[in-house]
Amino acid sequence: MPSKQVTNNDNAVYTTSNGAPVARPYAAEKVGDHGPLFLQDFHHIDLLAHFDRERIPERVVHAKGAGAHGYFEVTHDITDLTCASLFKKVGNRARTTIRFSTVGGESGSADTARDPRGFAIKIRTDEGNLDWVFNNTPVFFIRDPAKFPHFIHTQKRDPQTHLKDPDMFWDYLSQNPESIHQVAILFSDRGTPDGYHNMHGYSGHAYKFIREDGEWVYVQVHIRADGGFKTLDNATAGKLAGENPDYGIKNLFEAIENKQYPSWTVYVQTMTPEQAESFRYNVLDLTKVWPHKEFPLRPVGKIVLDENPQNYFAEIEQSAFSPSHTVPGIEPSADPIMQSRLFSYPDTHRHRLGVNYQQLPVNAPIVPIANFQRDGLGTFVSQGARPNYQSSISPLSYREKPYSGTHHKHEVWAGHARAYLSEISELDFEQPRQLYTKVFSQTDREHFINNIAGHLGGVKSAEIKARQLSVFAAVDQGLSDAIAKAIGAPTVQPLKVAPASEVVPLRTNIGQKSVPIA
Ligand code: HEM
Repeated sequence: MPSKQVTNNDNAVYTTSNGAPVARPYAAEKVGDHGPLFLQDFHHIDLLAHFDRERIPERVVHAKGAGAHGYFEVTHDITDLTCASLFKKVGNRARTTIRFSTVGGESGSADTARDPRGFAIKIRTDEGNLDWVFNNTPVFFIRDPAKFPHFIHTQKRDPQTHLKDPDMFWDYLSQNPESIHQVAILFSDRGTPDGYHNMHGYSGHAYKFIREDGEWVYVQVHIRADGGFKTLDNATAGKLAGENPDYGIKNLFEAIENKQYPSWTVYVQTMTPEQAESFRYNVLDLTKVWPHKEFPLRPVGKIVLDENPQNYFAEIEQSAFSPSHTVPGIEPSADPIMQSRLFSYPDTHRHRLGVNYQQLPVNAPIVPIANFQRDGLGTFVSQGARPNYQSSISPLSYREKPYSGTHHKHEVWAGHARAYLSEISELDFEQPRQLYTKVFSQTDREHFINNIAGHLGGVKSAEIKARQLSVFAAVDQGLSDAIAKAIGAPTVQPLKVAPASEVVPLRTNIGQKSVPIA
């Protein structure tokens, strides 16, 4: 959260880092007028040494971003779904920080690049911080977590040329066609949102919302921009990338300064474990959406951003969001991408910000921390004289709070240990086909074909182009032929994939009851 104690006009005396006053910021101690400098000049050494250490590693993905503070307010009762204390009462409010981002580019890259957008939310509840680390798309490129570093590397720079390379990008996508649903969204105009805050956010993953009695449902969270999802066409996005690469940061900052506070309505979709077993798709596969007709949106709250950071680095760059920062009543599902993310984020935070990253003001929970973690680089909160072990001498140093969620009616899993890689099947093409043929307007379809052609057309390898065209043909032959024509490539037959009947069905909840949907 922003520190209120520092302002531009607090009439502070200029000092060294230990607070000693210094008369002239530009001066350095010298022998005579032109002689060498003094090692004893702590002001000068302090200045240079701190400057030398100003940079920390940028995020390995989502490096370019913008953020602000605001609040989450509960507007509807969902106590039939979760015992999370945030949702105990309609009207509950929690201070919240959001960081938006692009994914592939470096920290200085353009805000209008074609890319999914990150939508990371930290909600400070009285039972700890709840981080929702979402994107602006309801699906993702992969469902096998080991593919993530491969896929991301194809959008980074070539190890030799240090250039970005469309051949690497399409080489990956054409070999991993479960990405096609996300590709269909990415190459529509939704791939170039108009600024960071005029867009929706989605959990993508199935979460589990759990009641005090241990009953639970799968949940997808949808965060819908009250002003609607605004997009840019390819030409405008490209022009802005050159003219104003910080377009998104600027718009968000100015909107808040002008009191045009961005706001969103938060909804959940719910699915019982029984429904999950008869659902056409695997509930743990985040390349699929849950149809709204079958699983309607239920409103739960609103989010408003009403406060700009005072210091971007301290309050946004040092923010550390993780799906594993959750609270009683909201748990991760067994989605393997989600499970891998639970490890990856705190791991990178320790690398990027240090072992005590949770003690930084923007990340610190509003509730006191009581545990046995001590010391380490950058300790701010020492937990005073509280024992640093499970003590019989001072046993009342903390209380244990009972929580039934994880311990009782969890799923039961059974099976042999095995190396598992998901298979591509007809199921992977149904939703992208629906999107292209039924949801897109004629204009959307035209933009989509042009956007793809502009990118795929830059690929040098005829083999990669043909392979990706066969993926598009599995969605819709007319689509593939239109792209082939636009890039001057021969038309191809659809990719051959496994029939839907061969996909291993999901069995998650042997012997479990579930909570009825309200
Ligand atoms: C950032 C890993 C999938 C959303 C990051 C970061 C890592 C990472 C290492 C940098 C975090 C930091 O430096 O603080 C992974 C891995 C994934 C995965 C290993 C899959 C196996 C996803 C998915 C989503 C997502 C599916 C969305 C549904 C985000 C967002 C950020 C981020 C929003 C930026 C957070 C911020 O603003 O600080 N991811 N990610 N990621 N990821 Fe993922």
